Amino acid sequence: MTDLEEKAYEVLRRNRVEGEGFAYTRPGGRYKHQFFWDSCFHAMVLRHFDTAFAKKELFALFQFQEPSGFVPHLSYHFDQWEAQLFWGRPHSSGLIQPPIVAEAVWAVYEIDPDKQFLQEIYPKLAAFYRFLLTVRDHDQDGLFSYVHPWESGWDQSIEWEFAFRGRQWLTKQWRTRFWLMTLPYRRVDWDQKIMMEQSRFHVETVDGNSLLSVNLAYLTKIADALGKRGEAGEWREGARSVERAVLSALWDGETFSDHYLVKGVHDVIRKRTPVMFFPLLLPSLSKDQKKKLIDTLVGEFLTVSWPIPTAAPAEPHFNPEAYWRGTTWMNVNYYVIRGLLQQGEKELAKDLIELSVRLVARSGFREYYNPFTGEGMGAHDFSWSSLVVDLLKRVK
Ligand code: GLC
Repeated sequence: MTDLEEKAYEVLRRNRVEGEGFAYTRPGGRYKHQFFWDSCFHAMVLRHFDTAFAKKELFALFQFQEPSGFVPHLSYHFDQWEAQLFWGRPHSSGLIQPPIVAEAVWAVYEIDPDKQFLQEIYPKLAAFYRFLLTVRDHDQDGLFSYVHPWESGWDQSIEWEFAFRGRQWLTKQWRTRFWLMTLPYRRVDWDQKIMMEQSRFHVETVDGNSLLSVNLAYLTKIADALGKRGEAGEWREGARSVERAVLSALWDGETFSDHYLVKGVHDVIRKRTPVMFFPLLLPSLSKDQKKKLIDTLVGEFLTVSWPIPTAAPAEPHFNPEAYWRGTTWMNVNYYVIRGLLQQGEKELAKDLIELSVRLVARSGFREYYNPFTGEGMGAHDFSWSSLVVDLLKRVK
């Protein structure tokens, strides 16, 4: 093990939570419960050290899956009264997070080809992705929606200012505002269908849908490995149709943008954030789209010392110290770098990996970083910053 690997594994072990019938890794800092996409990232790193634990962590994600296929973004395996207090329901939140669990399952299986693991987890995965493609694609345009900023995982991104009609002063109270946004959902007992109908925050994101397409492609591989030809065919078609929708509907000729729906009509969120780079992960991206994305990446985002900032420095509300509004996050770097690798941009990908590794080496496994000074911020010993280990393995 390299020094970096040892340190990463140590952080992941320190954040372990094990109890009767469950095991997972805490994100770090003040977060003690299980978060959906965090656990997927943990599994992608843990697979290099301890596949048995990675599998347990992935199973724990489905503990509170509902018959509709819904899987919560936050699972409370203990202190469940907190869920009741915060969300008005037992055990979990009623929101989702970026749907990256199929790729995490496949990543673990690649290193530890355990068919029984695939067999046991497949029905859960299938139900979850069906839920996204049906209930969560309310207007059936091939793109699923988030109904709350927390679902994106980019909590306070400038992307969500539209919900406050640009009133920047609300930023400081966003946590409360966002909690207030959950009240109408409590009133309908978190019925996902009604939530979709009534939500005033109804967003089809570039990153979420690119990740959905990528994950449906991994689900295809899983179904194939299990000999489920028919289902594999359905998932393959699903991956392609989401990909087509992202590459056409969310592209305006120059860039990709999130859309929000107002009374069924699409409106475009014109913000410069790295969500626009997630289509680099898609195999059918055109040459023109790829060129424009890479020019923007280099010209607008790689101008800082420690990329990639979560908002372009030229954005009026860019803030190098604020949560998701300009700070650098390892999971964003992870996907943009994987996108560059997918597009054959190995040199640029390697440069960004090197910078990411250096950032973690000098400032530690922190929750996020100042893109100018490299100073670490937020939680210490933050589990998903260990993703640099997986990135290094991908270019070996
Ligand atoms: C914050 C982040 C979210 C993450 C969670 C736990 O809410 O915005 O993306 O999953 O913390 O790390």
